[in-house]
Amino acid sequence: MIFVEVCVGSSCHLKGAPDIVELLQKSIAEGGLENEIVLTGSFCTGRCNRVGVTVTVGDEVHTGVTKENYREFWEGTVLPALRASQEG
Ligand code: FES
Repeated sequence: MIFVEVCVGSSCHLKGAPDIVELLQKSIAEGGLENEIVLTGSFCTGRCNRVGVTVTVGDEVHTGVTKENYREFWEGTVLPALRASQEG
């Protein structure tokens, strides 16, 4: 099980954090991963970027997540982190 924390700070909010939360909820539901991925919010991690939203996956902070690169983020970051956690 991993924690995915979407920054709810004002800067990330303006850059589309609610959209990213929605996309993550959809991916989690589609994959039946409700028991594997815990989606929460985080306070500003001080990594506000010029572009996109800050999302912490496990203990790694990822910046610049947008609707456009979301697919890549999900497949390239979230799913591998989940697999790594399952391998223990
Ligand atoms: S508002 Fe999200 S990292 Fe600062």
